[in-house]
Amino acid sequence: MPKLKLTVILLILFSGLFILSTAGHAGKDKTTENTCVNCHSKLSSSSFVGVKSHNWKGSIHQKNGVTCDKCHGGNPAAAKMNTAHVGVLSSSNPRSSVYFKNIPSTCGKCHGAEYYKFTQSKHFKKLETSGKGPDCVTCHGSMVTTVLNPEDMANVCDRCHNDRMGIFPYIPQKAKAVLLLIRESNALLIADQKLYHPETGSLNASYLQKAQSSLYSAKLEWHSFDLDVIINRLEKMDNSLKKLSRKNTRP
Ligand code: HEC
Ligand code: HEC
Ligand code: HEC
Ligand code: HEC
Ligand code: HEC
Repeated sequence: MPKLKLTVILLILFSGLFILSTAGHAGKDKTTENTCVNCHSKLSSSSFVGVKSHNWKGSIHQKNGVTCDKCHGGNPAAAKMNTAHVGVLSSSNPRSSVYFKNIPSTCGKCHGAEYYKFTQSKHFKKLETSGKGPDCVTCHGSMVTTVLNPEDMANVCDRCHNDRMGIFPYIPQKAKAVLLLIRESNALLIADQKLYHPETGSLNASYLQKAQSSLYSAKLEWHSFDLDVIINRLEKMDNSLKKLSRKNTRP
């Protein structure tokens, strides 16, 4: 993920510059200096615009300094709304970075690996040609960075994959089962990581490492929607865990 690395380096550089330039008022959280966040967090949470900002609060993006301007553009240093909003376009405007067809590449600036897998899928082609098909925010939300639960995921797939439309109507139930499997595998790996405290370089350490990368790969493959490949990756993960030597574990 070279792009993400670059972003991280840039972020570190920027925060360095920031500390230098604000040495006078040290100790402040860097997002409190972001005028988008500042002003929007004061808007009523009962308004549509307010709800969006309040949803972002507490998200993984907030914790990692992915502020409003990273997806919407604009000038996060301008205090006045009109100057801050220059370049911020409504999601209904085809030139907007958050127009539905442009969302994958906007997220892809930082999530290159997921974006790449997604562009390899038939769904992406559908999105490009007809504007129909799930995009990143269908499953993750635009502000909250969560993942739909298995039941809701099945409902999303069911919008197109049903008997009436006739395109692979078995998919919703299978997608649900696969997502449950991802979650169970995740829990299994975490449990084993807690149970084993392998020394670096030991066989157990390498099995856990292998399991971890198979799980990562399964999550990534989700973005190409090839459910059989995902199942295959999860089986690989399971095989690595089965190889763990159960001796010397602390209960
Ligand atoms: C001083 C207050 C203030 C600042 C600073 C500010 N906003 Fe806003 N923003 C508002 C208000 C109020 C609205 C709703 C009314 C409107 O759209 O004119 C709004 C609306 C929006 C909308 C919805 C636009 C639409 O067309 O539906 C977006 C997106 C947005 N702001 C993003 C940003 C971003 C990104 C920044 C920083 C670069 C920012 N805002 C800075 C007050 C602010
Ligand atoms: C990770 C990217 C991302 C971040 C960060 C983000 N947004 Fe959004 N936002 C989107 C996307 C994508 C949409 C359009 C799709 C949707 O509404 O689900 C959207 C829609 C909106 C809307 C509805 C208006 C419209 O044009 O549809 C408002 C208002 C808004 N965002 C404000 C904010 C504010 C304020 C922040 C910071 C507190 C913020 N957003 C942070 C991606 C982001
Ligand atoms: C400016 C960079 C940036 C942009 C743009 C961005 N993200 Fe992120 N995102 C991050 C960072 C940093 C994290 C923290 C975790 C990590 O290292 O992946 C993150 C985390 C996430 C996670 C949670 C991953 C986990 O570990 O649980 C999801 C889901 C996500 N982003 C989805 C999106 C979506 C959808 C969009 C577009 C609407 C988007 N992101 C746009 C930088 C970004
Ligand atoms: C059809 C639903 C769906 C769509 C569309 C989708 N994702 Fe995901 N995404 C998932 C699932 C499921 C996971 C695995 C979640 C888990 O860890 O339980 C995931 C995981 C992620 C993660 C975290 C990976 C990790 O290490 O845990 C990121 C980042 C992400 N997606 C970004 C994106 C981006 C960017 C797009 C658009 C190009 C996108 N997703 C489109 C369902 C989707
Ligand atoms: C908005 C409509 C739409 C939604 C929602 C949707 N799909 Fe699709 N899907 C399609 C279309 C159209 C095709 C392509 C059919 C073709 O051209 O062969 C397709 C094809 C597929 C294929 C077969 C790809 C191949 O190898 O040929 C899979 C697997 C798939 N979708 C999984 C899913 C999953 C999982 C979900 C829910 C997370 C989902 N789809 C949601 C429209 C949709």
